[in-house]
Amino acid sequence: MNNAIGIFDSGLGGLTVLHELQAAMQHEYFVYVADSAYAPYGNKDGETVLQRSLLIAETLTQTHQIKALVVACNTATAAAVHQLREILDIPVIGMEPALKPAVEQSESGIVGILATENTLQSDKFSNLLDAHQHQARILTQPCAGLVEAVEQGELHSGKTKDLLASYVLPLMDEGVDTLVLGCTHYPWFEPMIRELVGDDIAIISTGKAVAKQVQKQTQKQIQSHTINKQGQTMFYTTGDAEQISQLASSLLQSNIVFQPFSPQHSEP
Ligand code: DGL
Repeated sequence: MNNAIGIFDSGLGGLTVLHELQAAMQHEYFVYVADSAYAPYGNKDGETVLQRSLLIAETLTQTHQIKALVVACNTATAAAVHQLREILDIPVIGMEPALKPAVEQSESGIVGILATENTLQSDKFSNLLDAHQHQARILTQPCAGLVEAVEQGELHSGKTKDLLASYVLPLMDEGVDTLVLGCTHYPWFEPMIRELVGDDIAIISTGKAVAKQVQKQTQKQIQSHTINKQGQTMFYTTGDAEQISQLASSLLQSNIVFQPFSPQHSEP
C-alpha cells in the first residue's frame, strides 16, 4: 500500500492515535507498526529508542513509500523526532503531553501529568515544562507498568487497578483538576481513571490534536489522492503477530490482523 501515512508506536498505544486519524481522514490509507518486540520503550535507554525509531521509519519509507510519518508515541518522539525530521523528506508528526491546553483550562492551577519515565526525563519534556510552569503547578507522575498492562492484555486486572490508583489518587489529594495522559497507551485506561477521579476532573490526551496536525500537513497530498476510495489500514508488528492481533482485536472490539514486520536497514 503506497502513498499511505505511516504510524508507529512501541506497541498498541498508537492505536488510540490511529483511531483519531481514521475518524478525521476517512479516505486515507494508514500503515501501523507496533514495535512489540521492543515494548516498552519507556524504560529503554534513549539510544535504543532512537535506533528503533530510525530503523522502523527507514523500513516504512522503503516498503510503503509513506507520504508522512506519525510518531504515535511520546517516548519515541522525545528520543527521535529531531533526527527523523533531519533524515526524512516527508512530514514527521510527533506527540507531546498536552501541557498547554491543560494549564490554560485548569481552574485550580494544579495540573497532573502521567507519562513514562523516559518522557518525563527527556530534554524535550524539560523544555515543555519550562515553558509552562509559571502558569500552573505541574505535578509529574511516571507510571511504570501501565504500558506492560496494555501489552499483556491485563487492562482490567486487580493489579492494574491498584497500580492506576497508586498513580492517580495522590495527584487528586494535591488538588489536581486537570490530568494529562502523556503516553498514547494511557487513553485505554481513561474509563478506569474516570471512575477513580469522578466527573469534575478534566482528562486530556493528544490524539485529536495530532490528527488535526496530520490532516493539515498532508492536505495537499490528500487532494491528489483517490478521495472517493474508502480508507484502509494495514497492521504490522515486530512481535508475535497472532498474539498482538488478539490483543488489538479485544481492545478495538473488531477483528484486527497484524502481519509480521522485520525492520531492516537499506543496502548502502
Ligand atoms: N505509547 C508510548 C508513549 O506514548 C509508550 C512508551 C512505552 O513503550 O513505554 O510514550
